Parts: sequence; C-alpha cells; structure tokens
Amino acid sequence: MKTLETPRLLLRDWQKEDAEDLYHYAKDPEVGPAAGWKPHESIEESRDILDKMFLGSTEVWAIVSKEDGRVIGSLGLHGDSKRAGVPGVKMLGYVLSREYWGRGLMTEAAKAALAYAFEEEKLQMVSVFHFPFNGRSRRVIEKCGFRREGVFRKATCQYNGEILDEVCYSLTADEYWAGKGEDR
Ligand SMILES: CC(C)(COP(=O)(O)OP(=O)(O)OC[C@H]1O[C@@H](n2cnc3c(N)ncnc32)[C@H](O)[C@@H]1OP(=O)(O)O)[C@@H](O)C(=O)NCCC(=O)NCCS
Repeated sequence: MKTLETPRLLLRDWQKEDAEDLYHYAKDPEVGPAAGWKPHESIEESRDILDKMFLGSTEVWAIVSKEDGRVIGSLGLHGDSKRAGVPGVKMLGYVLSREYWGRGLMTEAAKAALAYAFEEEKLQMVSVFHFPFNGRSRRVIEKCGFRREGVFRKATCQYNGEILDEVCYSLTADEYWAGKGEDR
C-alpha cells in the first residue's frame, strides 16, 4: 500500500517485526472490543493475526508514531458488507494503542486516509460506524466530517455473544470536496 505521511504519523505496510507492538496494544481490553474483536491473549496470537490478516494486506495500514518509531495502531479501508457489490465504496476502521489516545492522532490518521481514498483511489463514498458506547470514536468521525445516517439496530454479534447496535455514518466524494471548498 502507498505510505501516507502526516505531521506526527506514518501509515505504512505491516512488517513481520511489528508483532510485539501489535500485541502491546491488542491485548488491552479497552481496544479490540470497541472495534468488534477479542483482545489478543498471547504474542503468538498476534504473530498469527499479523501473518494471516495484515502482512501483504491491501486494506490495512500500520500506524507508526514518528516520535518513537513504534507501531501504535492500525487503520483500514475495507469492503463495506452493508453495501456489498456497490463499486467505489469502502468502510473505514481503526484502533489506537491506549497510551496515545486523546492527542488527536486518530483524527490526523483518518483525515490522511480520507484524502487518499477520495483524491487518489477516487472512491465515491467512505462509510464508518461505531458502537453506541464509543464516544471517542464518535468524536473522531464527527471531526472528519462524516454525516450520520442512523442506527442499525442489532447489527452485529460480538465475539462474546453480545448483540450490539451500530451507529452508521458516511461521507460522499461530493461532501468531501465541498468540505475542502471545492465543487467537483
Ligand atoms: C477511538 C480512538 C481511535 C480515538 O483515537 P484518539 O486518537 O484518541 O482520537 P482523537 O484524539 O482524535 O479524538 C478523541 C476525541 O474523543 C473525545 N473523548 C475522549 N474521551 C471521551 C469520552 N469518554 N466520551 C466522548 N468523547 C471522548 C476527546 O475529547 C476527543 O474529542 P475532541 O477533540 O472534541 O476533544 C481510540 O480511542 C481507540 O483506539 N479506541 C479503541 C478502539 C476503537 O474504538 N476503535 C474505533 C472503532 S469504531
């Protein structure tokens, strides 16, 4: 994937050497479940997920902090299962290591990914959702200019059997360009 650079971050391809950093944030019970996945239970599990899902992926970047060189999260542009078969639409997803929360880093990363999605990949729409309890993610989504669509009730069953609503948002290419003060 193309490496994206922001003032404080690099979004780059995952590497085999990233397993320790991945495990460091993925074992945190505050991180994965808010994004719909089970916390990692061992470094071996992180290595396995890195091998099977991230290495060679064309959907998920590793987020690197320029300050300390560590991988501190991930950001992906995935197929949107609610819009299966619709061309030009991708769904944004992201997580960040807890020590780095509250500094505006994910908003910075997400804005870079949106610029890439609309300006280089020429997508027509990017969608995103958060679970109702996730006020932090809601703020990232709002600060990126997404429009709220509504609540998809009982949309997903978590790894632990809990059934959750999803609060759904999207941003069209026209809205993205209008937000930059340009009509396309
Ligand atoms: C959601 C997440 C990516 C946010 O990353 P971040 O870098 O801390 O985000 P930012 O600093 O850009 O913005 C966070 C915003 O949430 C606000 N916030 C902090 N605590 C909050 C709370 N308990 N409730 C509501 N908003 C809160 C912050 O004030 C900030 O908003 P502001 O700029 O208006 O003040 C991070 O918390 C995370 O990885 N969480 C676990 C995984 C996750 O939820 N992924 C998203 C799945 S949809």
